[in-house]
Amino acid sequence: MPKPIRDGAGPRHVAIIMDGNGRWAQRRGRPRLFGHHAGAKRVREIVEACPDIGVKYLTIFAFSTENWRRTQSEVAGLMSLFRRYITKEARALREENVRVRFIGDRVRLDDKLVTLMDELELMTADCTGVNLTIAINYGGRDEVARATKRLAEDVAAGKLDPASVNEETLPKYLDTCVLPDPDLVIRTSGEARISNFLLWQSAYAEYEFVDTLWPDFGAGEFGKLVGAYGTRDRRYGGVKA
Ligand code: FPP
Repeated sequence: MPKPIRDGAGPRHVAIIMDGNGRWAQRRGRPRLFGHHAGAKRVREIVEACPDIGVKYLTIFAFSTENWRRTQSEVAGLMSLFRRYITKEARALREENVRVRFIGDRVRLDDKLVTLMDELELMTADCTGVNLTIAINYGGRDEVARATKRLAEDVAAGKLDPASVNEETLPKYLDTCVLPDPDLVIRTSGEARISNFLLWQSAYAEYEFVDTLWPDFGAGEFGKLVGAYGTRDRRYGGVKA
């Protein structure tokens, strides 16, 4: 039985699929990377809005396991943007008491980026405010496959009894093992897909699909969606008492 994780009316954990950067740039006759840079600027505003509206966990989808299929120059541009973002924002994130974590498979990422990710995690490890999780080279199926592999290794090593495996077991092996499940998943840009994001974790999440392109998504709209969540009735498959 999933645990209700809300301690108030609002969502404690919001996950966002930040979509629409490319179209935002195209509409301005600019290259796609221009849109990604504009999108990166929005992240700060959304993180800063979280404490006021009671969002304790924010998880954002920055690069999927499928995004490697983009042109080499777009992929390289995004990787460079992530390096610059971490370098530039690290101090401000720490000062704002934001604890940063990364999820996704780091094996395919370049060493310099992985080092910056490790450093930022370490640097913010004692922050107690918003928990910001950034998904880079993340795919829900890939995450479940990697978790299953580790689980199987524990069985093979005699550390885990296969008879004891239940739906509480696998989450302990997921990248998100220390996070609560998301209550609300938002996707911008008008697409109504979840694109392999937090597949296991979102089993009972509410979804909001909005037309706004990510670089135009601001704290006001974010606050409205978070507020609207409070009016919903989550029953986790049961009936209302
Ligand atoms: C989807 O838009 C967006 C991405 C694949 C990248 C997301 C990255 C950012 C918002 C900026 C960087 C974030 C951080 C944390 C520094 P798209 O390119 O698919 O847009 P389109 O559907 O209009 O083509």
